[in-house]
Amino acid sequence: MAILSFVEKNLPRFHQELDALLRIPSISARSEHRADTRKAAEWLRDHARAIGLIAEIHETEGHPIVLAEWRNAGPDAPTVLIYGHYDVQPAEPLELWTTPPFEPDIRDGRIYARGSVDDKGQLFLHLKAIEAHLAATGSLPVNIVVLMEGEEEVGSEHLMPFVEANREKLRCDAVVISDSTMLAPGVPTIGASLRGLAYFEIGVHGPSHDLHSGSYGGAVINPATALARIIASFHDENWHVRIPGFYDDVNAAPDFREQIRTLEFDDRSFLQETGSPALGGEAGFGTLERIWIRPTCEVNGLLSGYTGEGSKTVLPAHAMAKVSCRLVPDQDPEKIRDLFQAYVSSVAPEGVRVEIRVLHGGKPWRARLEGPLYEAAAEALEKAFGRKPVYAGEGGSIPIVPEFERVLKAPVLLMGFGLPGENAHAPDEWMSVENFEKGIVASASLLDAIGRNR
Ligand code: BES
Ligand code: MN
Ligand code: MN
Repeated sequence: MAILSFVEKNLPRFHQELDALLRIPSISARSEHRADTRKAAEWLRDHARAIGLIAEIHETEGHPIVLAEWRNAGPDAPTVLIYGHYDVQPAEPLELWTTPPFEPDIRDGRIYARGSVDDKGQLFLHLKAIEAHLAATGSLPVNIVVLMEGEEEVGSEHLMPFVEANREKLRCDAVVISDSTMLAPGVPTIGASLRGLAYFEIGVHGPSHDLHSGSYGGAVINPATALARIIASFHDENWHVRIPGFYDDVNAAPDFREQIRTLEFDDRSFLQETGSPALGGEAGFGTLERIWIRPTCEVNGLLSGYTGEGSKTVLPAHAMAKVSCRLVPDQDPEKIRDLFQAYVSSVAPEGVRVEIRVLHGGKPWRARLEGPLYEAAAEALEKAFGRKPVYAGEGGSIPIVPEFERVLKAPVLLMGFGLPGENAHAPDEWMSVENFEKGIVASASLLDAIGRNR
């Protein structure tokens, strides 16, 4: 009770602190924001120290990792590792933001800012739960390690070796992550799966320089058209991926499919979120199946030729596409990489040079959804939201999750507080104020529940 009233009393300050974190443009993908990304790491280290944790920055060849610990619950108490990321996606296109991305603004019960829900707000709520325990009782029911990284949005390249190299330091009984979404407002949700990822860049190179499309067009293969042919060959008319072997390791997951069918889900409001003229995808599957249990091959970016004002009659020298495959259990990113490379080479038209760069990858993941950690989570979420949680898949990827399970041999809990339509990675990203506050209560209760059943 003392913990909950501490939270209630201090909420205005919690919001001010979160605002300060959100004001730091820690865009991991951009070298010009390197210092800002570091500033966010230092801010979190200092903040963790201020609430009573021992915190250090660990340098990597990329952005720093912040580790904060409290280990005074004793050797017999369980250890909980809380993971989150302080880096954010680029904020462009800036002109589509109602208020600037790094000037947090609360309107209509939402905190608008880049990183509000992905993932600074969801990470910060755990720090506030820890603070509340320490401030109200002088102690915590479990030992805690908070692991905060600055490269999640660019593939967690340096976190993977860090986890391997520090497996003793990171040893724990449970991993808790809030970096996913709830099925609907007021419906607490435990994440049952994540998709994996295999990301590529395809470069198509033709003439050594741009050509006059009148003097040369028709007699030289156009790289943009060649790339369009390659991309068009990714799917058949049923939006089924045509890469040979692509579906070989897809687990049909009949139980999960069955469970998905029991969830209340409205295609119309999902369509509305997208603003697209219609929904569509692989034949034979519903929307939730398409994003949770089916893999994809998606064009993320396209670049070639003249795209400025008016017209320019040119035959471009190069064309480029960014393409990523979302993967589901038991697909393996390295195997998909090989299949993708072989397929693109096989469909590449003659007369151009095609180059495939592998950018990054991550394995898919499915939760076992049982045991004391999941019981504790159900209890904590019910306490915070007044109803039992549902179990839902997630279409996105958190590459470190399967590695946590493999290396630390601890179960992972995805307890997300995002909401449909939150605009993660898009203009006007927001986090629900109510979920931020209930998330603190859920996190504080979770630590209690885990501590109790030792
Ligand atoms: N928080 C997301 C992942 C996510 C999204 C989980 C939706 C559950 C539901 C994370 O920050 C993210 O965006 N991950 C990237 C990973 C990639 C850059 C390796 C993603 O999914 O695109
Ligand atoms: Mn995230
Ligand atoms: Mn993200």
